[in-house]
Amino acid sequence: MAETVHLKGKDLLGMRALSPAETELILDTAGGFRDVLKRDIKKVPTLRGKTLVNLFFEPSTRTRTSFELAAKRLSTDVINFSVSMSSVAKGESLIDTAATIQALGADFVVIRHPASGVPHLLSRRLRASVINAGDGTNEHPTQALLDAFTIRERKGRVEGLRIAIVGDILHSRVARSNIHCLRSLGAEIRLIGPPTLIPGEFVQPGVQVFYSMDEGLEGADVVMMLRIQMERQDRGFFPTTDEYFRLWGLTRERLRLARPDAVVMHPGPMNRGIEIDSGVADSPQSVILEQVTNGIAVRMAVLYLLSGRPQEARV
Ligand code: CP
Repeated sequence: MAETVHLKGKDLLGMRALSPAETELILDTAGGFRDVLKRDIKKVPTLRGKTLVNLFFEPSTRTRTSFELAAKRLSTDVINFSVSMSSVAKGESLIDTAATIQALGADFVVIRHPASGVPHLLSRRLRASVINAGDGTNEHPTQALLDAFTIRERKGRVEGLRIAIVGDILHSRVARSNIHCLRSLGAEIRLIGPPTLIPGEFVQPGVQVFYSMDEGLEGADVVMMLRIQMERQDRGFFPTTDEYFRLWGLTRERLRLARPDAVVMHPGPMNRGIEIDSGVADSPQSVILEQVTNGIAVRMAVLYLLSGRPQEARV
């Protein structure tokens, strides 16, 4: 890393807040870290002496572990805060918990929470850099960044690509962040799914909505499948999971409607046989595990770029 360039804000709360130039900066920086991760010795001293706290109020495999690995590769200390074993279980408020974590010397607070807007609230109260690791149905910015990075690696560009995002758009913070990110980089977005899961707010310039999977997949360069969020289905958005798979599941036959060189993505965790056929998930066209690998480099880039800004008190 020859030159140090930084992001404008102290936090990463969502893709809405990033300019296309800032997004490109993160992706370019991640490219450098991807090279570091290919070396025999994958660790650099860049953020030695810093501390990152993972504060997850919802389950996670990929995001939590890849933030931990990203931080450790940069020589940053990591604390994985266990909500069930903490004073949160005794009724301590979120703000008091976060202020306590900061008092212990955290430089980065990575937060996942079931309520939209919680990272924004913490951002106003903490000196530490707050990174949104998924807030309710709102945003999951580092997922969108690693998706854009993966697309760029596979296709050489994002601009001009036809990207189909399929499934439970309504409940998906991944979809919201990806729509902002990929549109800002010049992609053509197609949203596909049942009308009950694609609300009107998504109809906007650069975004087309398809209720037919076959029509929506036509000529797609990228097919991004979304998890059906069973934990957020508070009413019947579709009759049965069998019916859902029949109409909107990605099968080998359906994938043939996309371009022959189309790549298949999924943020994980997958519901095999509900939104995606196992044969497709494990096919050569699938980049699902590459997405996971790229997440480390992208999160290293985010930590590195956020670390450069003077940490002023906000309270
Ligand atoms: N994509 C994603 O956020 O996965 P996890 O829930 O495992 O972190």
